[in-house]
Amino acid sequence: MLRRHRVGVIGGDGTGPEVVREAVKVLEAVGNAEGFHIDAVAYDLGGERYLRTGETLPDSVLDELRTLDAILLGAVGHPDVRPGILERDLLLRIRFELDQYINLRPVRLYPGVRSPVADVTPADVDMLFVRENSEGLYTGAGGFHRRGEPEEIAVQESINTRRGVERCVTFAFEQAGRPDRRAHVTLAHKTNVLNYAGDLWQRTFTEVAETHPGVGTAYVHVDAACIYLLEDPGRFDVIVTDNIFGDILTDLAATVQGGMGVAAGANLNPGGVSMFEPIGGTAPDHTGKGTINPIAAIAAAGLLLETLGETAGAARVDAGIRLAVSKMPSMRAGEMGATTSEVGDLVAEGALNA
Ligand code: IPM
Ligand code: MN
Repeated sequence: MLRRHRVGVIGGDGTGPEVVREAVKVLEAVGNAEGFHIDAVAYDLGGERYLRTGETLPDSVLDELRTLDAILLGAVGHPDVRPGILERDLLLRIRFELDQYINLRPVRLYPGVRSPVADVTPADVDMLFVRENSEGLYTGAGGFHRRGEPEEIAVQESINTRRGVERCVTFAFEQAGRPDRRAHVTLAHKTNVLNYAGDLWQRTFTEVAETHPGVGTAYVHVDAACIYLLEDPGRFDVIVTDNIFGDILTDLAATVQGGMGVAAGANLNPGGVSMFEPIGGTAPDHTGKGTINPIAAIAAAGLLLETLGETAGAARVDAGIRLAVSKMPSMRAGEMGATTSEVGDLVAEGALNA
């Protein structure tokens, strides 16, 4: 019997729709080979809709998203929309409302991809970032006092709950125990300065570690983690960290793996609806030119299949990506040696022949 998966597709802004198109193309090809069907449900959300109607994410749309099996997102952000509106009211609102409390970002250097860090090899770069995705500095807690006046005070609070930290750290330890990982978790934080939040994270980490005796542990300060990511990435297997540190570290890690053209992520609610996205933005300079790299979006679709239990399909996507990147001179937009849709075709073909 054909397995059906209802996947919401939010192309969004800029190059988002172009890369998502290739991801859906690959999902459909893999579905044909593996006996499942993707019922893609398109959602018109993003800067264009906001400028046209003033809506970012109507409640009725949010309620529909709750009924899906998964969501695939391109990118949001628009030059004519004040920064923060689409980020907070669309992207972060979906993450929060659907309680996608894990931001999972695998970082792999595919063979054939050039890293800007000299000497790193694919064997050195195989990490899994588990970024807390529902709290920290991202909740919007805080406020102004006397805004615009010389005495102005702006407070931006980092919210860390025992439950929120514990579910994130526990998820990280569970990931580390998977057969494709190396049974090691590093906590990255700033416990030497952030004496409250860091303390909660450290204590929770230590306690969760005790219940996972087979998993090795390490702690690094987040600033030192930046050095190690460049000098010794092989020391990292699973890295767990808070929302803002994870945001920053994963951009650096994405650069190590060859750039935004390959970097994929998942906003996971392990018991609910998850959303998959390339980490990169809307790339306005490349919009509509067929020069943007769709590999990151396709890799996000691979994570989507894995989450839906389509493990064999996810393996096909990975094989297709590996074939495509081995033929591409560069992962950078405009330097791929092929158009966006040609890269998508190459992955789809590789996935079918896997
Ligand atoms: C990311 C992005 C978002 C974040 C922005 C667009 C709100 O940078 O997904 O990493 O900070 O989480
Ligand atoms: Mn980011």
